[in-house]
Amino acid sequence: MAPCKTWQVRCVLCAGLLLAAALIWLCISLFVPRECARGHFAHAAVSADSLRCSEIGRDILQQGGSAVDGAIASLLCTSLVNPQSMGLGGGSIFTIRDKTGKVRVFSSRETVPLSFKPDLLNDCPTTFKLVPGIQWTGVPGELRGYEEVHRRYGKLPWAKLFEPTIKLAREGFPLPPFLEHLLTNPIIRDLVKGSSLCELFCNNNKTVLSKGDTLKFPKLAETMEIVAEQGAFAFYKGKIGSDLIEDIKAAGGTITMEDLRTFRLRMGDAWTIPIGDSLLHIPPPPAGGATLALILNLMKGFNLSAKSIEGDQKIQTYHRYVEALKFANGQKGSIKDPQYTDTTTAAHLIDSHYADRIRERISPDRTHNNSYYNVKPSSDHYGTTHVSVLAEDGSAVSVTSTINQIFGASVYSPRTGILLNNELIDFCGRAASLRPVSFQINLVEFFPPGEQPPSSMAPALLESKSGDIIVIGGSGGSMITTAMASSLINHLWLGKSLGDAIAAPVVFVDAKNNLKFEPGFEGYVIDGLKALGHKVEDFEYFFNVVNAVAKENRCITAVSDRRKMGQAAGY
Ligand SMILES: *[C@@H]1O[C@H](CO)[C@@H](O)[C@H](O)[C@H]1NC(C)=O
Ligand SMILES: *[C@@H]1O[C@H](CO)[C@@H](O)[C@H](O)[C@H]1NC(C)=O
Ligand SMILES: *[C@@H]1O[C@H](CO)[C@@H](O)[C@H](O)[C@H]1NC(C)=O
Repeated sequence: MAPCKTWQVRCVLCAGLLLAAALIWLCISLFVPRECARGHFAHAAVSADSLRCSEIGRDILQQGGSAVDGAIASLLCTSLVNPQSMGLGGGSIFTIRDKTGKVRVFSSRETVPLSFKPDLLNDCPTTFKLVPGIQWTGVPGELRGYEEVHRRYGKLPWAKLFEPTIKLAREGFPLPPFLEHLLTNPIIRDLVKGSSLCELFCNNNKTVLSKGDTLKFPKLAETMEIVAEQGAFAFYKGKIGSDLIEDIKAAGGTITMEDLRTFRLRMGDAWTIPIGDSLLHIPPPPAGGATLALILNLMKGFNLSAKSIEGDQKIQTYHRYVEALKFANGQKGSIKDPQYTDTTTAAHLIDSHYADRIRERISPDRTHNNSYYNVKPSSDHYGTTHVSVLAEDGSAVSVTSTINQIFGASVYSPRTGILLNNELIDFCGRAASLRPVSFQINLVEFFPPGEQPPSSMAPALLESKSGDIIVIGGSGGSMITTAMASSLINHLWLGKSLGDAIAAPVVFVDAKNNLKFEPGFEGYVIDGLKALGHKVEDFEYFFNVVNAVAKENRCITAVSDRRKMGQAAGY
């Protein structure tokens, strides 16, 4: 028996040594910080639409704030720096991963008010244009959202998150370059001049602000101070709310205090979908995540690699992608507020078997007319902002926020300094599908009070088995899906770095299934797609913007889209 015992002892010793070595290796790899290359961060990062707001978010993280704290501070800042995109008069969708990995969604997207203009649908645009007007304003949810996510995930005091933005609003700051650029556009300049927006964005002599001017928000500073002190209560039940309602009434709107009091935030688990080796977490309908999932599932089945965009292969790859977008357009109608529909809305869109069936219908050598994809032409619209935050403890926030189109309803509330949304135009897609009978339908059935309009917004998180994480989201209204899908496909499968993936020119398939190419898109691919029968239209308004933070191999890359002159911040 003796030799056997010695053998056993040796064996145990040997295993012990191996285990110790493995443990030491694990400790070193976990706790000894590895140098991250220039331009990357080792701990945490924020990517908002502007450097100023990314930095405010980062500072909050460095002061011990959670990812949610950083995101709220960044959003508040964005309501000043990109006031045309979002603000307290809008709504947002948060996708939040806590440090244990649980992902939840909080949607404060605006809702249909108890009463509205009876013939609202008559005003639905049939072409691409700005649609100002208080009749389109949904009940704002922005602050209800901040309140709840801060209550659950916040580490710093609520008021602290408002401090940097209140200071900025009161002291003023140079007109931000992107806003300056927008205000040079004649359509937008006329809109500002001809509306109550002029109170904020014009000089004393009523000329629209331009380069070198200072932007200030004195009234909004007061409002934010009260909200910082009293919480969202001030907006939904208190003085700010009643002042806002008075201004809405004065502008001809129908929203009442009752609407504010009864506004309900939606909360629940994220929808989680396997995409290759990763899990994609998206907000459920009426958000646009399901459409994104369909496109990714369709494209995944084509086994893409860097080779797929070499030479002529690129034409076929883009043809498949464009076809995927056409099918996705055809499914837009199935994105609805689940609380106001009796079917499980959009569940099929995230089913990989459904994607497999659709993929078989993609012809390699041709495209088809709209009925093939079930597309009912409607109009597109553009706006919105996105913030991605990854904190040191692994918690993450992907939040898209909006007042809908550029400057929303173009209504400024002088008593509160708040800009109001025009979110209800997002029901116009549904109206288009009912034409020409739409004007006979019962409007209350069509717009039940409390319903959230469908959205393209899809604040997402992607986690791989190896522990990598991508926090990503887009803005640009109807272009959100295109912007996010092309960034993710470029990065995950076509071998592009996150920055290059986001910067690559996109092809947008509009609501009529026409192709619109961003400047810089390769001519031979455009010609190749035309030869396959795709209809191409000229277009100049590419508002697709993606802001993302990725942790890959333990180093963090943060990218704010250059299309909106953004820059990320981290440490
Ligand atoms: C209006 O005021 C701004 C600055 O206050 C000035 O730069 C601009 O020249 C003025 N324009 C007119 C037409 O007076
Ligand atoms: C992709 O790869 C899978 C598995 O290897 C294969 O079954 C499928 O046919 C491929 N699809 C295409 C479009 O090449
Ligand atoms: C669309 O194509 C289908 C089959 O290819 C055809 O039956 C239908 O008439 C076409 N519709 C239009 C509007 O061209």
